[in-house]
Amino acid sequence: MGFPATRMRRLRRTPALRGLVRETQLRAADFVLPLFVEEGLATPTPIDAMPGVARQPLAGAVEEAIEAQALGISGVLLFGIPREKDEQGSGAWDDDGIVQQATRAIHEACPGLIVITDLCLCEYTSHGHCGLLDEDGSVRNDATLELLARAAVSQARAGADLIAPSDMMDGRVGAIREALDEDGFEETPIMAYSAKFASAFYGPFREAADSSPAHGDRRGYQMDPANAREALRETLLDIDEGADLVMVKPALPYLDVVARLREATGLPLAAYNVSGEYAMVKAAALAGWLDERSAVLETLTAIRRAGADIVITYHAKDAARWLQET
Ligand code: PBG
Repeated sequence: MGFPATRMRRLRRTPALRGLVRETQLRAADFVLPLFVEEGLATPTPIDAMPGVARQPLAGAVEEAIEAQALGISGVLLFGIPREKDEQGSGAWDDDGIVQQATRAIHEACPGLIVITDLCLCEYTSHGHCGLLDEDGSVRNDATLELLARAAVSQARAGADLIAPSDMMDGRVGAIREALDEDGFEETPIMAYSAKFASAFYGPFREAADSSPAHGDRRGYQMDPANAREALRETLLDIDEGADLVMVKPALPYLDVVARLREATGLPLAAYNVSGEYAMVKAAALAGWLDERSAVLETLTAIRRAGADIVITYHAKDAARWLQET
């Protein structure tokens, strides 16, 4: 039945009708807010390419977490910037490391808020790569697994509610699961950055976390942006190794991958609206070229519509505020 019997505009006539037939809901509870916490910092240090986001000292990270929780945001994702870096990235498994300290402090201040710890070595290695290096400068997979496992156990010991490996080593979910179980953390879930692409949109993050590779790039371990079938394969492998939640990263240029994974797996699915995606919207908004509020809410809704249950985003606090006003 076509026009005139069918008129699609009938259900778009009023806000109430549009609300009744809206297919995708956006709630603050869907959001996770990433936080950068830096050891030895006295005051928050703004990140140039991410207006509104700063590297935080421990107390600042706790304040951010308190604010996020008050706005109804479900969790925070912690990235640590240690005072000292070395070849191995040993700060990652220091029980008194900055992420471990922040995990404990946030738990104390915000009972019920989910603390997720990003698990990778790149913020802790002097060379900025996500694992141990060979003489020729390539990242050693199997030797790195042991270090990741050690860091995961240290994060779990600090009380992390979810461990989120972002390194893209083969076999890391299995290695981390085994190590957690051996140490009595069989109840600690793993949120795997499963389809993590080698993306230009991580640029501002690397400034924030001071984690740009000193030589080369990450294409030897992160995924080729051209590959969606491979993303499915990576994700199924992570699930097989014991991932409890899976993730696509970045979000916007990869919504097709989000949709495919939504079809292919019943696991909770997260999408990471990364630093470069945030920077683009912020830059255009500050120039007066985009209305920030509508652009952000539309973007986050689109990520949910594609199939993500959880949206990790630097816009989380603003978006949660705007949702309260609507
Ligand atoms: C660490 C990591 C990165 C991001 C999250 N975890 C950077 C990278 O892989 O280079 C990027 C997040 C963002 O851009 O917001 N491996």
